[in-house]
Amino acid sequence: KLLKQGPVFCAKYCSSAMSVEGSKKEAACIAVENNVKGGVIGIGSGSTIVYAVEKLAEIVAEQNLDIVCIPTSFQARQLIIKHGLPLGDLETHPVLDVCIDGADEVDTDLTLIKGGGGCLLQEKIVASCAKKFVVIADYRKKSNNLGEQWTKGIPIEVIPLSYRCVEMKIVSQYGGNIDLRLSGESKAGPVVTDNGNFILDWKFPSTLDWKAVEIFLNMIPGVVENGLFVNMAHVAYFGMKDGSVMTK
Ligand code: 5RP
Repeated sequence: KLLKQGPVFCAKYCSSAMSVEGSKKEAACIAVENNVKGGVIGIGSGSTIVYAVEKLAEIVAEQNLDIVCIPTSFQARQLIIKHGLPLGDLETHPVLDVCIDGADEVDTDLTLIKGGGGCLLQEKIVASCAKKFVVIADYRKKSNNLGEQWTKGIPIEVIPLSYRCVEMKIVSQYGGNIDLRLSGESKAGPVVTDNGNFILDWKFPSTLDWKAVEIFLNMIPGVVENGLFVNMAHVAYFGMKDGSVMTK
C-alpha cells in the first residue's frame, strides 16, 4: 500500500533517485509517527533504527509522551542513552506495546531475515514480547522470495564450541554453504555477539518452508537462535527510491 507519495518535484525534475539513507529515514519517521503513542517501546538495531530513535526523541519532547525503551543490543542501549530516552529492560517490562526494528530482507508474507548486525537473538526476544512488531527498511530489502535481495544468507547464532557440528547438520539436511562470520577488515577472528556467541551465515540453496527451517535450526544442539522471523512482523514500512513510503 502506498502510504506517502514521494515529492512531486522528484518524479518530475530530479534525475537522481532518493538516496538509500533518505529512504531509510522516510520509512523510520513515518513508522514512528504512526505507531508510537507512548508506553513500552522495543528499539531494534542497525542503521535504519538510528533515524527512528531520532524521530522518537523529537516526538517525546514535543508531545511530552510517557515511554520506556527496551534495547535489543548494546548499540540500541547506547542510542537510547544518547537521546536521553528512558531505558528499561524485559525484567521490569516483559510486555511491550510496540517494537520497531530494521531487517535485512522482507518477503511478501512479512517473513524476515535479520541479524546482519549480529543482534538477532535479543531482537527476536524483544520482538516476541511486543503487541505490535513494526519493520522499517529501504527499498533494497523488499523482495518476493528470501535470498533475492539479501545474498549473505540466514544468520545463525551458535555456542562457539558447536559451530562446526552445527554447520555440518544444516548442510546435510538442506544443502547450501555456510561461513563463520569473521570480524573486521583483517578477518582475523570470529565475530562475537553481545551474548558471547559466534554467527554462521547460511547461504541456503532455494526457497524453503521457512517455518519448518526455523524450527529445524533451533532444534540443533548449539544453536541459540536464527535470523528467520516467521509470522512475527505485523507491518513493514519501506522507503522507496522515489521518496514515497509503502506499507505491507
Ligand atoms: C541487526 C539487524 C538489523 O536490523 C538489520 O541488519 C538491518 O540493518 P540496517 O537498518 O542497517 O539495514 O537485524 O542484527
